[in-house]
Amino acid sequence: MIGGRLPGLPPIRFGAAAKTDFALYFGGRRADDTATMFDTIQPAAPDSILGLTDAWKADPNPLKVNLGVGVYKDDAGNTPILASVKAAEALILQTATTKLYLPISGAPEYARCVQQLIFGASHELIGAARARTAHTPGGTAALRAGADFLKKVVPDATVWVSAPTWANHKGVFAAAGIPSADYPYYDAAGKGLDFARMEEALEKVPAGDIVLLHACCHNPSGVDLTAGQWQRVAAIAARRGWLPFLDFAYQGYGDGLEQDRAGLLALAAVCPEFLVASSFSKNFGLYQDRTGALTLVAASAVAANHAFSHVEIVIRVNYSNPPAHGGLIVTRILSDATLRAQWLAELTAMREHIAATRIEFVNALASHGVAGDFSFIARQKGMFSFSGLSDAQVKFLRDAKSIYIVGGGRINVAGITSRNLEYICSSMREALAIP
Ligand code: LMR
Repeated sequence: MIGGRLPGLPPIRFGAAAKTDFALYFGGRRADDTATMFDTIQPAAPDSILGLTDAWKADPNPLKVNLGVGVYKDDAGNTPILASVKAAEALILQTATTKLYLPISGAPEYARCVQQLIFGASHELIGAARARTAHTPGGTAALRAGADFLKKVVPDATVWVSAPTWANHKGVFAAAGIPSADYPYYDAAGKGLDFARMEEALEKVPAGDIVLLHACCHNPSGVDLTAGQWQRVAAIAARRGWLPFLDFAYQGYGDGLEQDRAGLLALAAVCPEFLVASSFSKNFGLYQDRTGALTLVAASAVAANHAFSHVEIVIRVNYSNPPAHGGLIVTRILSDATLRAQWLAELTAMREHIAATRIEFVNALASHGVAGDFSFIARQKGMFSFSGLSDAQVKFLRDAKSIYIVGGGRINVAGITSRNLEYICSSMREALAIP
């Protein structure tokens, strides 16, 4: 036979022989009782974040609430297309003349706009051409392209991630063959940053390893470093020789576009090399257009070009070159003073809406008699709040109340509306009574 045998299972047949046997399939097995290639596969667990949206959609409860995936919602619970994005799209449609492939790393104008956005237009790194940027399909692909590149250049490196971190981080690096380890970050008892233990751990990260840092709006905790703490982290990176990899998915959702660069600028001031993964899902609302960027910073323009040529290779063998539409929108908005001003106003409104929702949520929890001090929710930044709910309490909210929250207790604050606020608070009061 052509094929193989999995331990304890009947032989598998595939390839040309399987094709000629096609007529003999029945019920996932062949007439001769050998297993087909896929019929013994057990289903994978649903994705811990995106899987919640599928479960929420299928839930018939009219009171259901999705506080899972990190998407902005207005007070009506909608995620509208930004007016600046609509306007840019109209201009793009009017003027587009071709659907030719983009270069492997995307359009140069997009790279220029991204660098000006993340570093600030007049940053010396841009003038010195020490940064190269690739347009990627979302922030996830930016992380993956960076991870694939790092596996080539530092094959024995470990990536250090905050405890906790975004549920997909370890998986992205594992898929590239890079093992991960945790550094302390969130202090559950104090509901804040455990900076002393974080700093102590980062001092011990070996030279040549990678440290993944959330540039702002830490996902899932909402707890960020101060500008002074960023400077200390940057000094450790420069002294110890580990490579910072910044995940910059929420620029503009913390304190503002410029304020949210504090960490990146601290690193740029003292670290000769680092990587940045940007996402424009949240700040431009381009979730389904998968629009992101990987920026590589090296010690010189020559080194940046040499290293970037390997980034282009990992992209070429992965998705070849990026989808254009989201990049065209971002480029158009950032290059046009009127559209840019409109976008900035929309981004500010989204940030302020979430900040106001945080305060309303804290007040409503108190007025519903929910025991405990939840003032920390108002201090956290970005979309998420670490609620302090246990896994049993999260499960109760999902099973008994159809309120969907990511395991670990991460709440998407943007999912709270004036319509569901009361329901969420009364349900949380019941949940928190569960030991
Ligand atoms: C999230 O953390 O909810 C978002 O970044 C969406 C995702 O891809 O997980």
